[in-house]
Amino acid sequence: MPDIPNGLDRYAHICGWGTAVPNNILTNAELSKMVDTTDEWIMNRTGIKQRYIANDKETTASLGVKAAKSALDTANISPNDLDLIIVATSTPEHHFPSTASLIQDKLGASKAGAFDMGAACTGFVYALTVASQIIQSGSMNTVLIIGSETLSKIVNWEDRSTCVLFGDGAGAFVLQGSKVPGGVLTSVLRSDGSGGDLLKVPAGGSAMPACYDSLRDNLHTITMNGREVFRFATRVMADACREVVSEAGMTLDDIDFIVPHQANVRIIEAAARNLDLPLDMFIMNIDKYGNTSAASIPLALCEAVSDNRIKPYNNLIFVAFGGGLTWGATLVTWDVTKTTSQNQVWHKLRRQALYRVARIRSAIRRGTRTIEGALWGEEEVADK
Ligand code: UT7
Repeated sequence: MPDIPNGLDRYAHICGWGTAVPNNILTNAELSKMVDTTDEWIMNRTGIKQRYIANDKETTASLGVKAAKSALDTANISPNDLDLIIVATSTPEHHFPSTASLIQDKLGASKAGAFDMGAACTGFVYALTVASQIIQSGSMNTVLIIGSETLSKIVNWEDRSTCVLFGDGAGAFVLQGSKVPGGVLTSVLRSDGSGGDLLKVPAGGSAMPACYDSLRDNLHTITMNGREVFRFATRVMADACREVVSEAGMTLDDIDFIVPHQANVRIIEAAARNLDLPLDMFIMNIDKYGNTSAASIPLALCEAVSDNRIKPYNNLIFVAFGGGLTWGATLVTWDVTKTTSQNQVWHKLRRQALYRVARIRSAIRRGTRTIEGALWGEEEVADK
């Protein structure tokens, strides 16, 4: 993509995309041996057949790194080109450091800033909006956004009303600035904190720090009023789609596909009815992944792109809702095709070398810090 001077008419184009999921699959049949449920109930009420579940070594950062590397491959750019990394997640590695900083280190994205974004299942739409507007403002040119979740680690595996719903996975986009019209066109972001109690992890934050009682009562896991969230979701999905097309000066007739947050097939069906649109305009893969929160939209989009369902110049709406409560929608012209050339193979080898260098550089930095601390740390403290 051409280098665009700052401050002129700029558009944010999605030029790379990629996903990652854990190795292990948990089927409904297996779940029915863990809690009082059936494959039939889960399929009829949610549309979910299976979900991916992380093992002890697979974390939000490790899945995010895999998805990011795949997105950098599609975009055919170096991690050194990244100006910013945003990770949308409700299951960060820690309160701090941010998962985005850990991923920045693993990628060796030495010129990038990094931060996490907490907007629950709407996180990817929020991240896409923020990234595109930073690019459109001219202050940065290349931004990596990642939706990555290991919800299995904060699910109450004894609560059948929630544990059947969630799964783990990650998806990433690379966005770049260009003068060519297209890419991310417009967004709507909304929140209603009065509904915060409907979907939350009660303990582990400043309101209720983790303690013996919170662990005993499972308050560090997801609690949800499913019916209320369902009612809220069916209303806001349709509203957000209408608002975003109207802000773009378009109508729903201009839209080719809607990529909704994958929480429940019945919610998506209700949104389709409400909008009077055919269900085949809605990209769905919840049957394979369950609800992966901030990762669900890129996981659905990437699958539809690799199946050749989504074609260049299709207009897409990404629409999501979730804890907060939050909801939002983004309208995008999908104006890229994946190409492979000899040049790309060479660049991929170069990226792999850079990832190895990043590992070594990170280890050297840690080592240097330890040595500096040992040599000068006590002296400096004594001076003060
Ligand atoms: O990403 C955003 C986060 N979450 C959501 O979007 C979730 C939104 N809500 C939903 O998708 C649905 O409300 C659920 C799938 C969570 C539940 O479906 P529902 O049709 O609203 O069921 P319900 O909560 O009204 O429960 C119906 C019955 C209850 O039994 P009784 O009281 O009628 O005897 C539940 O105890 O189903 C029972 N039930 C189950 N039965 C078998 C609840 N969970 C299960 C289960 N297996 N896993």
